[in-house]
Amino acid sequence: MDSISLTVNGVPREAQDVRPHTTLLNWLRDQGLTGCKEGCAEGECGACAVLLARPTEDGGTRLDSVNACLVLLPALEGQEVVTAEGLGAPGALHPVQRELAYRGGSQCGYCTPGFVVSMAAEYYREDRPAEEFDIHALSGNLCRCTGYRPIQDAALALGGPAEEDAFAARREQAAPIPQATRLHTPDGEFYRPTTLAEALDLLAANPAARLLAGGTDWGVEVNIRHARAGVTIAVDGLPELRTLTWNPDSVEIGAGLNLSEIERRLAGQVPLLEEWFPLFASRLIRNSATLGGNLGTASPIGDSPPVLLALDARVVLASTGGEREVPLAGYFTGYRQTLRRQGELIRAVRIPLPLAPVSGFYKIAKRRFDDISSVAVGIALDLGGGVVRSVRIGLGGVAATPLRALATEEALTGQPWNERTVREAARILRGEGTPLDDHRASAAYRAAMLEQTLLKFYFEKTAQEVTV
Ligand SMILES: Cc1cc2nc3c(=O)[nH]c(=O)nc-3n(C[C@H](O)[C@H](O)[C@H](O)COP(=O)(O)OP(=O)(O)OC[C@H]3O[C@@H](n4cnc5c(N)ncnc54)[C@H](O)[C@@H]3O)c2cc1C
Ligand code: FES
Ligand code: FES
Repeated sequence: MDSISLTVNGVPREAQDVRPHTTLLNWLRDQGLTGCKEGCAEGECGACAVLLARPTEDGGTRLDSVNACLVLLPALEGQEVVTAEGLGAPGALHPVQRELAYRGGSQCGYCTPGFVVSMAAEYYREDRPAEEFDIHALSGNLCRCTGYRPIQDAALALGGPAEEDAFAARREQAAPIPQATRLHTPDGEFYRPTTLAEALDLLAANPAARLLAGGTDWGVEVNIRHARAGVTIAVDGLPELRTLTWNPDSVEIGAGLNLSEIERRLAGQVPLLEEWFPLFASRLIRNSATLGGNLGTASPIGDSPPVLLALDARVVLASTGGEREVPLAGYFTGYRQTLRRQGELIRAVRIPLPLAPVSGFYKIAKRRFDDISSVAVGIALDLGGGVVRSVRIGLGGVAATPLRALATEEALTGQPWNERTVREAARILRGEGTPLDDHRASAAYRAAMLEQTLLKFYFEKTAQEVTV
């Protein structure tokens, strides 16, 4: 079989001759749905944004905006896609389209369908108060000519959906669930297993297979570096990777949940993660990117490791032989190398409870939002009677692997938490890791940022908040 069925703008379609690396964007445009544009093909511009109908926790449907350039078409068997064309048409504009036109939010129009889609996703967000619009919902959309002011005006002028709005009503019905998929094509095989056991058997039989979760990393490899996989196994829909469980001594987060889902389901109960989410890429990317994928890249500048190291997280690895749990602190063994063995996948991440009472995440990048870190630091601190009971500091961007700042932690532990101690420890932190000069930052800048970060944490987080 090399075809898949999906629904686009309410119409069932059969995609023929599907290849494992065909993107949703390219296929939609081949179908004549040229509203979604290719600006960058790497998730940076949002010109390709579309809506995907996804299940909510209570059995309804959420309309999530995603980058069609990073979604692989075979991953969409049985799924439902809405493009800007499906939202409204000339003569019957969607409220979002009408506001953009009325307020001068579109000039050349290249970016406009992408903005329409991201705005529509926020417009239909179930828990959005009608009079509020989270402008960060548009953080993954770039416009080169209009300027953002009229676009923002359009977004802020939106009320809530009308009673008879078909998309609002769609939210009340069930969304499609991930469908088993097996494609055998001249360009490779694509599988979407529906159980973990099936996925692990496939992985055991194809140890070199590429695991696919949100595709925000692999999609860039496919589009920009023309990477190809003989066998691709989609794991983001596996129920066993989509749980979020509170236990007495830990919270376990499934590796296949996307970051927006984790953010919603944790609802602020892990403050360090809550602080981190908005600084990770854009809403479009967070609607797809998973924790499993972030750790799966083993990138030294990935953002989750510094946060998870500070939280003392453990990685749950699954294979046909069963499960094992390893501390994240020992997980990275070299540049993009980890303890994960052939045939294993990351099933979940476990964060021990109770959480340290004070925590902070610092991402030093060229832009405040939607940028890759030059340096990232996660800090979790426990004080008792004004003395440091324990502290964990996770670092990214200062070595070939993410790492714990062990010398700094040791210098702080047991010491009074005051400016003098912190200044001394910050100098030690400056020397941790082996930062390099590269196009993002110099080694000296990275070292200086480490020092500043601990000072910032002390003054911002503890000066007022902690009773010592
Ligand atoms: C525009 C843009 C902005 C970005 N911004 C950031 C950022 O701010 N911070 C940051 O850290 N990253 C960023 N990224 C990188 C990327 O989004 C993250 O690494 C993301 O978490 C990857 O998750 P995914 O589910 O999309 O992974 P995928 O692309 O599906 O997979 C990535 C890798 O992980 C492997 N993998 C996936 N799931 C598993 C699993 N369960 N077990 C084992 N291996 C697995 C895959 O085989 C693949 O090698 C950005 C990417 C883009 C395109
Ligand atoms: S084409 Fe730029 S984000 Fe997809
Ligand atoms: S209207 Fe031209 S790029 Fe936005």
